[in-house]
Amino acid sequence: MKFKTHISVKNLSVWYGRHQALNNISIDIPDKKITAIIGPSGCGKSTLLKSFNRLVELQDGAKVAGEVLVDGEDIYNPKVEVTHLRKKMGLLSQRPQVLPASIYENVAYGLRIHGIKDKRKLDEVVRHYLKESNLWDEVKDRLHSSASKLSIGQQQRLCLARGLAVEPEVILGDEPTSALDPLSAECIEQRLLELKNQYTIVLVTHILRQARRLADHIIFLYLGNLIEHGPAEEVLKNPRYLKTKSYLEGKFIEEPKIDKELNLRGVIYPDNLIAAKLALGDLQFGQILKIIVDYEQAASELPKAIEHEGHKILEVTKLDKNDGAIIVQKHNGGYVI
Ligand SMILES: Nc1ncnc2c1ncn2[C@@H]1O[C@H](COP(=O)(O)OP(=O)(O)O)[C@@H](O)[C@H]1O
Ligand SMILES: [Mg+2]
Repeated sequence: MKFKTHISVKNLSVWYGRHQALNNISIDIPDKKITAIIGPSGCGKSTLLKSFNRLVELQDGAKVAGEVLVDGEDIYNPKVEVTHLRKKMGLLSQRPQVLPASIYENVAYGLRIHGIKDKRKLDEVVRHYLKESNLWDEVKDRLHSSASKLSIGQQQRLCLARGLAVEPEVILGDEPTSALDPLSAECIEQRLLELKNQYTIVLVTHILRQARRLADHIIFLYLGNLIEHGPAEEVLKNPRYLKTKSYLEGKFIEEPKIDKELNLRGVIYPDNLIAAKLALGDLQFGQILKIIVDYEQAASELPKAIEHEGHKILEVTKLDKNDGAIIVQKHNGGYVI
């Protein structure tokens, strides 16, 4: 998987009080593409998104561990200026949050706080970004009327214009079309598709059709764990793991019932393959083996080699910073589960 990385997440864990919402997530997000974070409600999608602009730490009792590198720089470094970071990582939330001001002032706001007063310049910028967000034609004759009088769909486009006016590098969208009517939603989707030439876009969505329409890259989370990620074509059409498959087919996601557990921490390839083959030899067809290994082993040749033996890899997960688990079903002799 070769692409230019814009955001690199390394062993990111987030807790709200004692509840762990994200467990050791490591992932690279490509530059100037649309990455969709998918997964059932409560699996940590918004938490992951909000960790990219440090909004997550504003939640009560939130604790963050790990690193998030943006352009190679760890945003959790105490030296990082949070205001600057949030300007760089524009957020479009679920419900549009317009400022209680005119349409014009909503877009001009970001420039005014940066000290730009020149009216000609402001007029030009306001017009430019209202056009960029496909709102100009609808509001050009009432720029100075209140933003809150706009429809929800128009308000969301106004928020997009306001976000773009501060020239972010990344657009973070947390289900940005979920409160909108279908036409307004389509309008936002269309803009995002056009904007990805200029910006890296990370989009949380629980609408699979939307992920299929927009995403170049997919991250599938389940209960705070990263289950699968990769090019949208591969993950959506040909998922590797059982949980992803169940989710995409709208089936109930079950934890596999483990018949035997094998601890191979510290055992390297190909010795761990031999041990795994012996353990699988003792199982019945269709039974499930969980192999605990050092994470590098889980992430490299071992699962492929086991699959090559004809067995089925159901899941590869990260247990903590160093350990991983491979969940494998003994070759089931033609019986498909
Ligand atoms: N501020 C918070 N305080 C306590 N728990 C939270 C908070 N925000 C989210 N959670 C919990 O963390 C988990 C992940 O939440 P979230 O990231 O919002 O999931 P998603 O966006 O996938 O629905 C959920 O179990 C949720 O209840
Ligand atoms: Mg959410």
